[in-house]
Amino acid sequence: MAHIEAVDLFCGAGGLTAGLQAAGVRVTAGIDVDPACRYPFEANHPGARFVERDVSQVTGGELQACWSPGVVRLLAGCAPCQPFSSYARGRPADHTKWGMLYQFSRLVRESQPDLVTMENVLGLEAQEPFADFVHTLRECGFEVCHAVLNAADYGVPQRRRRLVLLASRLGPVSLPQPTHPGRGHWVSVKDAIGELPVLAHGQSCPEDPLHRAAMLSPLNLARIQASKPGGTWRDWPTYLVADCHVRESGRRSTGVYGRMSWDDPSPTMTTLCTGYGNGRFGHPAQDRGITLREAAIFQSFPRDYRFVPPGVDVPNKTVSRLIGNAVPPKLAEAVGRQLLEAASHSRAGQ
Ligand SMILES: C[S@@+](CC[C@H](N)C(=O)[O-])C[C@H]1O[C@@H](n2cnc3c(N)ncnc32)[C@H](O)[C@@H]1O
Repeated sequence: MAHIEAVDLFCGAGGLTAGLQAAGVRVTAGIDVDPACRYPFEANHPGARFVERDVSQVTGGELQACWSPGVVRLLAGCAPCQPFSSYARGRPADHTKWGMLYQFSRLVRESQPDLVTMENVLGLEAQEPFADFVHTLRECGFEVCHAVLNAADYGVPQRRRRLVLLASRLGPVSLPQPTHPGRGHWVSVKDAIGELPVLAHGQSCPEDPLHRAAMLSPLNLARIQASKPGGTWRDWPTYLVADCHVRESGRRSTGVYGRMSWDDPSPTMTTLCTGYGNGRFGHPAQDRGITLREAAIFQSFPRDYRFVPPGVDVPNKTVSRLIGNAVPPKLAEAVGRQLLEAASHSRAGQ
């Protein structure tokens, strides 16, 4: 097997790193500007160094120093995606964040890796910054492939469609084939969280501080009690329906206050996924929203992945952001295996 070493740009809590390492890629460093990423990145990946830096201040020379001589060098990353998400489209673009993809391009030019991978929201594929990124890769001699993949097709118990790009200067490269292709093969909510301790809203699990359910207001408790798995607020009696469910257009929004279904993958985890009112984030059987641990499992993080040091109060907003922003490790693992396959076609790193 080829020996690949990776640097993870915009590493977050380490979802992408976790998957690459599970595939057999050695991640030597992760770079992120958010200090909250340090603990989860270092605690779960003891061989990798966390560098708290703004990527725009990093040089190609610094990246080169992270790779051992003779290995296949991978530059991996998931630039901040909010500017391209469906929520942000139609709003004024935040150019400081769009710029991060250009910083990724700059670092490809300066550090000259052998392999590149990038994950992002699907809306990016039609945007100029993405076309520019692909152009830079081709100019630097990379073969490039990209497509929108559904994480559920790779064993992630979640519907999550993301743009995935792989690029190689070692020869041909292709996208990973689904390991769980289509509905009949997907991992369900029940498979993922069915064995976790039962909780009421407002209750925590003494053994796992991340398995803690937010307190619901009396109104929201009545709403979830009236919700059917896989259903919407249309199942509720009229007195529970809020005005905000009716948009100005008169169309009704059904994407909030939903309850998951045991037999399907979860909906897409977001940075606000432990708020019952923020999406279809109700537990399938218990009258509460999902916990941070359940959200992490839906992202396919290992069951014991650590996000905060032992004994420290869990900051819900921060951990929810780290989890919602992550690349699902199982999807990243499929990408890592594919890159190992691409590297095996070359003599480098053997
Ligand atoms: C989509 S998240 C990455 C998730 C990560 N790849 C994972 O799998 O867990 C994007 C990350 O970019 C980081 N970020 C945003 N601007 C940055 C900058 N200028 N320099 C470094 N990191 C930045 C954010 O803190 C965030 O953790």
